[in-house]
Amino acid sequence: MSKWTIEKMAGHCGAHLHGVSLEKATHLALEQMRAALFEHGVIVMPDQHLSPEGHIALAEFFGNIDVNRFFTPVANHPMIAEVRTAPEQNAVIGGTWHTDHSYNKSPAMCSILSAQQLPPFGGDTHFASMAAACDAMSAGLRKVLQGLRAWHSDSSFSDSNVGLEKRLDAFRDPVLHPTIIKHPETGVACVYVNGDFTTQFEGWSREESEPLLSYLYSFVTQPIFTARVAWEQGMVVIWDNRLVQHYATADYSGHARLMHRITVEGVPLKGV
Ligand code: SIN
Repeated sequence: MSKWTIEKMAGHCGAHLHGVSLEKATHLALEQMRAALFEHGVIVMPDQHLSPEGHIALAEFFGNIDVNRFFTPVANHPMIAEVRTAPEQNAVIGGTWHTDHSYNKSPAMCSILSAQQLPPFGGDTHFASMAAACDAMSAGLRKVLQGLRAWHSDSSFSDSNVGLEKRLDAFRDPVLHPTIIKHPETGVACVYVNGDFTTQFEGWSREESEPLLSYLYSFVTQPIFTARVAWEQGMVVIWDNRLVQHYATADYSGHARLMHRITVEGVPLKGV
């Protein structure tokens, strides 16, 4: 088939796409997939079994690959990052709500995760719609946030215990992004602060920022804004990091899990 069948997963984000092989997709089918990504924030494509070359080609359809400075690369494929959990590890990469690469000046547009080895249970990934959260906010809070920018930093990688490489040369200066962004493709307003990388509001101390940031983190990740992906072997999931945050569930202790991830570079973000 040359067209995808698209089924919504939840009220505010996520869609399953069936009926097309990514490695054989026509340009039209790829365009339909990109439109679905911008509409649903996260798209789930089962039974793809992408080769590393197919994974890279898919990422290049969206833009330039933004190689993660902290993750271990896949052997012989430096553009692809390993998201690996060893059986003896309790913490996992991405095990808290976050937005990939928000510490970059041009933060990640999308991330493409391809399942390689799955635990016998658990290991689901949750997604939360930052557009739905923004929409549900009071006009008063939204007005305050529209006037604020926040600092994002990669410093949380320095004390992570999830088996990332200790690469001292990888750290960069913090960057500022608007707290409410205008999605670069659709213009939709989205909340853009996350618990892993946002440190404080511009002109505010960390102590002053902490209560409002904590409130926002719990507000934007309420179950009503989320969808949950239960992984299958060969499944490919793509999410738009401006539209959703994500959370990897660390509930499969004693078992291994391996995903291949490519992140695609985005553009500098503008406020609404
Ligand atoms: C990530 O944060 O990119 C990891 C997501 C996952 O492993 O499910």
